[in-house]
Amino acid sequence: MSFSERILNWYAEHKRALPWRETKNPYVIWLSEIILQQTRVEQGMPYFFRFLETYPNVTKFANAEEAEILRLWQGLGYYSRARNMHKASKQVLELHNAKFPTDYQSLLKLPGVGEYTAAAISSFSSNHAHAVLDGNVFRVLARYFGIEEPINSSSGKKIFSKLAEEMLDRNQPAEYNQAIMDFGSLQCKPKNPNCAECVLRIDCRAYESGLVNVLPAKIKGKKSKDRFFHYFIIEHDGAVLMSQRSEGDVWANLFEFPMIESDADLNVAELVQMEEFQKDFGLSVPTQIKGQIKHILSHQNIYARFYKLEINASKLPKKSHWNYFILEKLDTLAKHKLISSFVEHYF
Ligand code: ADE
Repeated sequence: MSFSERILNWYAEHKRALPWRETKNPYVIWLSEIILQQTRVEQGMPYFFRFLETYPNVTKFANAEEAEILRLWQGLGYYSRARNMHKASKQVLELHNAKFPTDYQSLLKLPGVGEYTAAAISSFSSNHAHAVLDGNVFRVLARYFGIEEPINSSSGKKIFSKLAEEMLDRNQPAEYNQAIMDFGSLQCKPKNPNCAECVLRIDCRAYESGLVNVLPAKIKGKKSKDRFFHYFIIEHDGAVLMSQRSEGDVWANLFEFPMIESDADLNVAELVQMEEFQKDFGLSVPTQIKGQIKHILSHQNIYARFYKLEINASKLPKKSHWNYFILEKLDTLAKHKLISSFVEHYF
């Protein structure tokens, strides 16, 4: 039996019933795929239903306020994905007359839709013959064919794309694409794959040569940058001072507390010596609320500390991105995870 036949047989027996597999609507598939790029199936599911309920079609999505989309996206991280979704939905209205495209080339032109997502949407919605290549597929192919080329090198990407296309079952691309992804996530898992009961084991190169735990190979990326954020909780008359982040850095446009960034960790004595601190907060003395929190992003480690700051509101500088919000309103603001977790526990 061929590689693809074995994968499809395995899938017939083990496939997961997932809501986005019950539809051919490209808008719904797009929603699910963008969410699933960001999180695992179990965690993505509530987001998928919430988005679909709030925006049952692409027109509703395009006409929504960006702040509301970001609020619904809260907790998934990587907020540029949500912003790109909004741009993409507007593009569907303008260029495709509100009919979500299903052909690979039109899909690729939508913001936030790359080769993987275009292949997923076009195959799942319309059975177009494009092979998906995500982390699961890379892993299954690298192991079964014993390919040691790093999956994130340019030569590696070419080899794997070509091979993925060759293996695609052109008679049932949608089914095959779902099958190989499920096979990767349930059977040929990154850690502790179930080689003992595997339909590919008899001729799996990685299994034969003891390379299962080594493949797929990856080139190490550049080192993450360490950043130190100091957040100040400033309350006034039942309201909290919030600051909206600017564009061009992590968490663009999201809300957080007023903050100061430093290149190294600081204690309170060092913090109050900073020129920026004295400019914004004068001689007030912050009280640290809890220990340091480490928050890992794709190329940055954020080390955050939170302080309570008693300061007379009239002494604070006026800044256009600083505004007071009453506690009930705080909930409706789009905040990044570091802040929403803090708010949940503190207020
Ligand atoms: N991960 C990404 N796309 C998926 C899909 N369609 N089904 C299950 N997991 C996925």
